[in-house]
Amino acid sequence: MRTLVKHALAAAEPQKNLTIKGWVRTRRDSKGFSFLEVNDGSCLTSLQAVVDANTPGYADIARFTTGAAVVVEGDLVASPAAGQKWELKATRIELVGEADPTYPLQKKGHTMEFLRTIAHLRPRSNLFGAVFRTRSRLAFAVHQFFQERDFVYVHTPIITASDCEGAGEMFRVTTLKGNIDEKPSTDFFGKPTFLTVSGQLEGETFACALSNIYTFGPTFRAENSNTARHAAEFWMIEPEMAFCDLQGDMDLGEAFIKAMAKYMLEHCAEDLTLFARFVDKGVQERLRFVVERPFQRVPYAQAIEILKSSGHKFEYPVDYGLNLQSEHERFLTEEHFKSPVTVFNYPREIKPFYMRLNDDAKTVTAMDVLVPGIGEVIGGAQREERLDQLRDNMRCQKLREEDYGWYLDLRRYGAVPHAGFGAGFERLLMFLTGMANIRDVIPFARTPGNAEF
Ligand code: 4AD
Ligand code: MG
Repeated sequence: MRTLVKHALAAAEPQKNLTIKGWVRTRRDSKGFSFLEVNDGSCLTSLQAVVDANTPGYADIARFTTGAAVVVEGDLVASPAAGQKWELKATRIELVGEADPTYPLQKKGHTMEFLRTIAHLRPRSNLFGAVFRTRSRLAFAVHQFFQERDFVYVHTPIITASDCEGAGEMFRVTTLKGNIDEKPSTDFFGKPTFLTVSGQLEGETFACALSNIYTFGPTFRAENSNTARHAAEFWMIEPEMAFCDLQGDMDLGEAFIKAMAKYMLEHCAEDLTLFARFVDKGVQERLRFVVERPFQRVPYAQAIEILKSSGHKFEYPVDYGLNLQSEHERFLTEEHFKSPVTVFNYPREIKPFYMRLNDDAKTVTAMDVLVPGIGEVIGGAQREERLDQLRDNMRCQKLREEDYGWYLDLRRYGAVPHAGFGAGFERLLMFLTGMANIRDVIPFARTPGNAEF
């Protein structure tokens, strides 16, 4: 039976006859014995094995190089070395898979850019092991958060014919060759289809049946923005609540971010120490702040006033009716409020058709949650549940009613006020870990010009 390093290191007392399997991080040879640091990815810390020259298998020790896959059997004993409680006194070692000297992770201090070129090997580094353990745990935390609140998990389709966000940033899915627009009716699905930019519209249909639902899945955007926070393929979490208004939506968004920060502090503590040491010194303090303090809430119009009167020089113009750019969002959250901030009630012209028109007939019930270091991490809204108003919105945005018949049906049969949001999982991870580039929190990044691996 194999013991994971994390369980060995958590032992309450010495253990006999453990079998550890993993990859050699380093080897140091002394007179008559060697030290092996073995890591199996189960936790950040490696287990140190002390291998006496008489140990069976020791004849191969020269081939126990960095990166080699090995088995080490032995007894877990108190370690005399500083900084570690346990070490393994080896009774047998075995080389499973050699790593030749070209193994690229020999030395520390590689740049992030270099590590992206070896995305197949970077999970074996301390940093990326920590990132992807964190990603896994946070995915679990997302499900736990919603399941504990009686939200039903819905798998919305990845291939879709509807453009939810109306921004025309969709990847086409087709089996046609040549001019794919010539005869779309002969295509695989009989009409033009795309990779989804959001599961929201389909999610709404389930919320209007099961009350509270969430989706959590791959999402695709063909926006050609080569930034540190945009990916062409990312994961989105989309809760949708029936009988809910904008207020309730903002409350859920805030509770969600807080719960993720709390989970991170409580369940990813070891990996978090690494992020604090090598990535972002203030990360733990920031997470505690987020857990303890309420978020700020500010209407879009007031946010514009704050930006205009700030005296700060922005690259992009600030004016009522213009979208907030990342630099504006970051100014609000990092400089002005020094806290996460939820901006709500945006002008209808800059938001998608499905958002509910406010009584002022100028703004819609949109809300974005902005966090320091990232900007927008959540985008959501109360939905337009009034059939006539929704039709009007669609006309304004030049959408064809016949393409959205099923969506309009939700407004014909038992319509209710409902609301939801989308949270970018990678942006959330960036916020929680301090990692500065979205390419470094997703296993294999898809960005303009890059679909390697
Ligand atoms: O604000 P967005 O576009 O909202 C929607 O798609 C709504 N339909 C969601 C809903 O109400 N159910 O996207 C939601 C979030 C953003 O706040 C951002 O965190 C993330 O998705 N996101 C991206 N993350 C990485 N790369 C991209 N290209 C992203 N585009 C959006
Ligand atoms: Mg948005």
